[in-house]
Amino acid sequence: MAKSSYSEYLLQVLQRPPEVFSGVMPLSRKLYASNIYLRRCRKIDALELRELMLKNRDYLEKWIQPQPEAITLNCVTELITEDRLLAKKGLRLDLGIFRIEDDKMLGRIALHSVDFGIQRSAGASYWVDEEETNNGYATEALSTLVSFAFEEINLHRIWLKITKQNKASTAIAKKLGFKSEGISRKCLFINREWQDANVFSILDEEYDSLADEWINNNYLGA
Ligand SMILES: CC(C)(COP(=O)(O)OP(=O)(O)OC[C@H]1O[C@@H](n2cnc3c(N)ncnc32)[C@H](O)[C@@H]1OP(=O)(O)O)[C@@H](O)C(=O)NCCC(=O)NCCS
Repeated sequence: MAKSSYSEYLLQVLQRPPEVFSGVMPLSRKLYASNIYLRRCRKIDALELRELMLKNRDYLEKWIQPQPEAITLNCVTELITEDRLLAKKGLRLDLGIFRIEDDKMLGRIALHSVDFGIQRSAGASYWVDEEETNNGYATEALSTLVSFAFEEINLHRIWLKITKQNKASTAIAKKLGFKSEGISRKCLFINREWQDANVFSILDEEYDSLADEWINNNYLGA
């Protein structure tokens, strides 16, 4: 197949916009919620991100994937470079969560497992500095990312996989109106064991009315 017709095939059949994330979400762009904004991390953020990862290592290992053995500055810089490559390929979008008031980095959120083929879906994952939890930051971050995914990336379904013990994350999914789909068996290797997860999702056709609620609840920025 000639190169141009293959590009057309990707665009028309798989609807995969080339360089979708780096185009729509360049490094300079911020997605605003009420108290936080999301933006891609730059190499200059490596120091702050490293401190946050070191400080929260034990906390994060309990709830999400194992952290690198040595969280060196080099390792975090590589992670940011990898973020950029994955965003450019449209495979994944990693964003920092920053507080508007003082620009402090609070955590990270990602659209991952992005599929522009017959699923047009992505998973979302997130974490917030343990010291800053229960201030509504993850709720704002997730609603903002989901709005971006439906309104600008044209995805059809956003899903979450949350272990049963993760009451805080389950509370966020329910609060934002994600629907429970059931259990995915032993699908997450967390805290050195395979764990069952509740799968939650929002479909594009459900998004508009949910977005009205999120605006009314002050999760989304003006
Ligand atoms: C999950 C996490 C991102 C939540 O961040 P956060 O900024 O505190 O989230 P929010 O403040 O927006 O919302 C937390 C909600 O959980 C509720 N909550 C917290 N602990 C709870 C518990 N033990 N039982 C029930 N609800 C709980 C809070 O009350 C709040 O709900 P509310 O606003 O209705 O009162 C954070 O705890 C974290 O980083 N955990 C480790 C990583 C992780 O688990 N990531 C998600 C993987 S699926």
